[in-house]
Amino acid sequence: MRIRSAAPVELEALRGIERAAGEQFRALGMAAIAEDEPLPVEELAEFSAAGRAWTAVGADGSPVGYLLVKRVGANAHVEQVSVHPSFARQGIGRRLLETAADWGRGQGLKNLTLTTFGEVPWNAPYYRRLGFRDVPADALEPGLKQVVAQEAAAGLARWPRVVLSRPLA
Ligand SMILES: CC(C)(COP(=O)(O)OP(=O)(O)OC[C@H]1O[C@@H](n2cnc3c(N)ncnc32)[C@H](O)[C@@H]1OP(=O)(O)O)[C@@H](O)C(=O)NCCC(=O)NCCS
Repeated sequence: MRIRSAAPVELEALRGIERAAGEQFRALGMAAIAEDEPLPVEELAEFSAAGRAWTAVGADGSPVGYLLVKRVGANAHVEQVSVHPSFARQGIGRRLLETAADWGRGQGLKNLTLTTFGEVPWNAPYYRRLGFRDVPADALEPGLKQVVAQEAAAGLARWPRVVLSRPLA
């Protein structure tokens, strides 16, 4: 497995990975999340053109996971990280997050941040094991506050959401 920049021709495959990974939410009664459409290919293309989209590829060179990162305030913010269930629990998610951290350090940013579900085993508890800590609502900087508000407007806050952060130093 190796991680490299995602090519424009691969973006549709990345959306397929996210749909497959999202299926796991059904077992938790979160069908709406499983059915939530991935970002449109045009938006993925913006991440890719800006050098902020990576894919983990298997032995045959085809994508098995992906990562989108953007800058939010002084943070490198993980917009999406997904690993195809057939390749889960092999450390690919962790390596994608390290890729996000490397990008953030290269940009001179302070923290790696993300928003996620607080009670889904492969979400907040997983990230906390990787060193992320919860950011209290009253400590959110404006950019992250906006992300939280947008996600709530999109219906994600029907289940407990958290903002997590890990220093990049
Ligand atoms: C979150 C995600 C990217 C992790 O990818 P991964 O390559 O499996 O992660 P890693 O191999 O680095 O770490 C594996 C750890 O993740 C957690 N994990 C992964 N899948 C899990 C599952 N189905 N149930 C419980 N824990 C799970 C466990 O802590 C696991 O460690 P363990 O195998 O020792 O128990 C992947 O599970 C995924 O794509 N999930 C669906 C989409 C999603 O929720 N994305 C994040 C939105 S914020």
